Amino acid sequence: MQTTDVTVIGLGLMGHSLAKAFLTAGHSVTVWNRTRSKADDLVALGAASAATIQEATEASELVVVCVTDFAAIREQFGKAVTLVNLSSGTSEQARETAEWAPAGLDGAILAVPDGIGTDEAVIVYSGDRAAYERHEATLKAIGTPSFLGEDHSLAALHEMAILSLMWNMLNGFLHGTALLQAAGVSAASYVPLAEKGVDTIKSWLAAYADQVDAGDFPPLDSTLDVHVAAMDHLIHESRHLGVGAELPEFLKSLTTGVDPTRGYAALVSRLR
Ligand SMILES: NC(=O)c1ccc[n+]([C@@H]2O[C@H](COP(=O)([O-])OP(=O)(O)OC[C@H]3O[C@@H](n4cnc5c(N)ncnc54)[C@H](OP(=O)(O)O)[C@@H]3O)[C@@H](O)[C@H]2O)c1
Repeated sequence: MQTTDVTVIGLGLMGHSLAKAFLTAGHSVTVWNRTRSKADDLVALGAASAATIQEATEASELVVVCVTDFAAIREQFGKAVTLVNLSSGTSEQARETAEWAPAGLDGAILAVPDGIGTDEAVIVYSGDRAAYERHEATLKAIGTPSFLGEDHSLAALHEMAILSLMWNMLNGFLHGTALLQAAGVSAASYVPLAEKGVDTIKSWLAAYADQVDAGDFPPLDSTLDVHVAAMDHLIHESRHLGVGAELPEFLKSLTTGVDPTRGYAALVSRLR
């Protein structure tokens, strides 16, 4: 096979977008997917389709892998290769993968397929610094790259932290829409206020982070007991409207045993 700038292995929703972004940026691209037909339109755009995964990995020095999970990577790669893994997984799995591909990078895509190839798509990497520096310019084609450090597990760990943020925020939003819908108010009409709420929370993050790092939690916005009283209101409101109260009940359960005169960030002591 001809040598290309980059090989993309895995052409699901995300891998396909990655390959397309590399092509759009003018790179020569080799692709491989278990189901070969998913490469057809990329070949029409100029990609080379490898017949085997071995052929694909030999075609480029930069091999980007984006498959379902780490089990799929292990199944496909019997032996060590230098790869940039963009498949999701835990930090432990990233560390294990680094044992047989120490010269590679683990990455986490903090974007959806539609955003790939734009500056808004943030992709974090960790692992071999020399590999990152060698390929940074090419990796810019798929999103804004950021190197977190030589510990291979850091990208996966940051992805987990972002997933926690995403689901907790979305659950809070959905719980609010359920309350409003029970009262006949549309979710759409709630969006401007919800966006304002997200902005307010955003403005608290740096100060909360300082407290978490210092392990000291003087009240910022209010004391924890004021939060707990408001959680009780939310639990009663939910029950009154026939909306599930499990979420606020769970939130309240997390405050058990935490000094109520401290700020909300003191909850982290319960989580760790
Ligand atoms: N989609 C997103 O918004 C998003 C965002 C951030 C991160 N990610 C991560 O990106 C990765 C891929 O996601 P996706 O949305 O592209 O998923 P997807 O559309 O379901 O594609 C899965 C890909 O993995 C391949 N695959 C699965 N098992 C395999 C195996 N045993 N051997 C070889 N190939 C195998 C599939 O091949 P076939 O086509 O042959 O089935 C396909 O190419 C996941 O780890 C996901 O968490 C996705």
